[in-house]
Amino acid sequence: MSQIRIFDTTLRDGEQSPGVNLNQLEKLEIAKQLERLGVSRMEAGFPASSKGDFNAVKAIADTIKNTSVTALARTVKSDIDTAWDALKGAAEPSIHLFLATSPIHMTYKLKQTPDQVIETAVNMVAYAKQKFTHVQWSAEDASRSDWEFLAQIIEKVIDAGATVINLPDTVGYTTPLEYGNMFKYMKENVPNINQASLSCHCHNDLGMAVANSIAAVQNGATQIEGTINGIGERAGNASLEEVAVALKIRSDFYPYTTGLKLEEIKRTSDLVAKLTGMYVQANKAVVGRNAFAHESGIHQDGVLKNASTYEIITPEMVGVKSNTLFMGKHSGRHAFKDKVKDLGIDLTEDKLKEAFKLFKQLTDHKKEVTDDDLFTIIMEVQTDT
Ligand code: KIV
Ligand code: ZN
Repeated sequence: MSQIRIFDTTLRDGEQSPGVNLNQLEKLEIAKQLERLGVSRMEAGFPASSKGDFNAVKAIADTIKNTSVTALARTVKSDIDTAWDALKGAAEPSIHLFLATSPIHMTYKLKQTPDQVIETAVNMVAYAKQKFTHVQWSAEDASRSDWEFLAQIIEKVIDAGATVINLPDTVGYTTPLEYGNMFKYMKENVPNINQASLSCHCHNDLGMAVANSIAAVQNGATQIEGTINGIGERAGNASLEEVAVALKIRSDFYPYTTGLKLEEIKRTSDLVAKLTGMYVQANKAVVGRNAFAHESGIHQDGVLKNASTYEIITPEMVGVKSNTLFMGKHSGRHAFKDKVKDLGIDLTEDKLKEAFKLFKQLTDHKKEVTDDDLFTIIMEVQTDT
């Protein structure tokens, strides 16, 4: 099994979700939970973006001692200096510099030639290296960049001292095969590539962020960036809980370990949802309300006989107490009987049959039959002589 570093950017890219604004205390609370979850590195924020973010990054850097803390900076000296002021108290201060490399970004956003972009990237990585031992450089919009140009700039920033090269799919445009091939190409065409580690950073615009991240790892990336619950710009980032659980569940196929304490996943997800106000959809993989809920009678019957019939992840693995059998119109007699027993009620076979009939009638009008509804039904059949 080879070790994959999990780089959490919930507090930076995740906070870039429209409408999300975390204060210092909230960021610190999430940072402590990320430390408990066991992420290798957390990106605490973008210190040059605001005084509030500077203070939050500093508080996290001064508090978190078991996880490396990093922060984002543009390739400008003042950003790097500000990041250093915020991070110098960290156990392992690290900086994350980024500069766009795609023709679209260089032409329209930066208005710089490729040579100017190389010069800026090299100079600023070298500048950051005077303060930080760990310097990550990101080729923003790497997935829409020219691979030959990327190989050229990567070689130069590694020579300038970059320790991690991140190749983001900034706009969630790539596909697993293409993204994997890009990492393979860099491995094969950048002469000094082994002096740095490769990182992937995927956005979810086409719903492929997790698959793309795994493809990158299969082609030489040793760090995966993402966020809890997949929050982030537009459609969000790769969902770290999905990445970690996918690698674990399919370890027969993927010989990688993330070191995450998977049983802390649900608690982390709930905390991030509560503090960001971004609640996850019910059918979200791993952490959604329905991820371990079964409604159809056939599924419920199967799960009651043996959970592995319809569950590939055990709820306990990710810190969820147990699965649930949803009481709705598709529920079957077997699950109903089990539910009644769970409520601590003993019914004769006849009463059970009667109660099941009433339950089925109710499901014609109600999507979910609650425990209170069931108690009412049971009282009705018990008083019925
Ligand atoms: O998506 C992206 O390109 C980023 C960079 C700042 C790494 O978030
Ligand atoms: Zn991003």
